[in-house]
Amino acid sequence: MKTIRDIIDFKNKKVLLRVDFDIPIGKDFVIADPFRILKQKSFIDYLVNQGARVVMIAHISATDSFAELVPQLHILLGHEVGFIKKIEDIAEYFENYQGVGLLENIRQFSGEIDNDETFAKSLSNGFDLYINNAFAVCHRNHASVSAITKFLPSYAGPLIEEETAKLQQAIQSPKGKKIVIIGGAKASTKVPVIKNFIDKAEKILLGGVVANDFLKAKGADVRNSIIDDNYQELLAGLDLNNPMLLAPKDFNIFENKILDIGRETAKEYTEIIKNSKMIIWNGPMGMFEDDRFAGGTKAVAKTIADSTGFKVAGGGDTIAALNKFGLIGKFDFISTGGGAMLEFLSGNRLPGLEALGYYS
Ligand code: 3PG
Repeated sequence: MKTIRDIIDFKNKKVLLRVDFDIPIGKDFVIADPFRILKQKSFIDYLVNQGARVVMIAHISATDSFAELVPQLHILLGHEVGFIKKIEDIAEYFENYQGVGLLENIRQFSGEIDNDETFAKSLSNGFDLYINNAFAVCHRNHASVSAITKFLPSYAGPLIEEETAKLQQAIQSPKGKKIVIIGGAKASTKVPVIKNFIDKAEKILLGGVVANDFLKAKGADVRNSIIDDNYQELLAGLDLNNPMLLAPKDFNIFENKILDIGRETAKEYTEIIKNSKMIIWNGPMGMFEDDRFAGGTKAVAKTIADSTGFKVAGGGDTIAALNKFGLIGKFDFISTGGGAMLEFLSGNRLPGLEALGYYS
């Protein structure tokens, strides 16, 4: 994989930079969690200081356009951000403006999600090189992630290097005293992680909807709790009686639904966490957004934060929980990836990394 250390001189180079600004937007269009934006700042500073001319490309799901967010991006990044509505306006942007450019939400352009080569070629026009610094989107075979690398000399940015190195470290660390904690929803993205770690970790602790699916598949009564319709299909191939897979034994139930793990389970999980050397966490234990059901997630988060083990976490809800409990700074590594982190931890090849030559 070519990295930015392979670029000798950035001066006056026109750089097409893929970033991930897929952030939650709160009331009055205020950016609710700037974590992903702030993770780009140091590299943008570096490029600007080296004399590069930068245009960023990114997608956002919470709204259609980046237009209204530009003033906030300016403040968060500490650079004048010039909004570029159309690809054809990029040349004019370079001629007339000095700041860092940001192209409109890339997923609004036809050709992006189809990984269309004609679209990627038009995107590459006028640039000297492409840098992908968006680990969080590397699981998407999209034009601004994949096909673009066919038209420009392409490099991995420092965030890609950091994410892949830290997650690889987590996967390859010795099995003894390594635990994986999987909670939250979207079991389809989490079961492959469980399957990949079944012989690579000492214990896997389950919570959230994933645990409901697991318990239901084992024949337990989960009442009216949320489960995935296709839970049997999702869990097929997993030995549900494997003693290293731990599911909650008691619950916080409200209106006939499991909304958090119970005290006994929290006690059991935190004892295991205390004795672990490597802890990988994705997905809350319950509906932590409501204080009445935050106890399990808080106990787990706090025990991980206080442990002396190496702590890796990721996923939007997990990050939101860590923010809520003020524990984010206590982790050794927080991945910017949601789906990308899970795919990487599942052992799958990510198209964006493939395009950068990571697997060659
Ligand atoms: C994410 O939020 O995980 C990334 O921005 C990718 O977004 P996507 O799941 O919409 O592709």
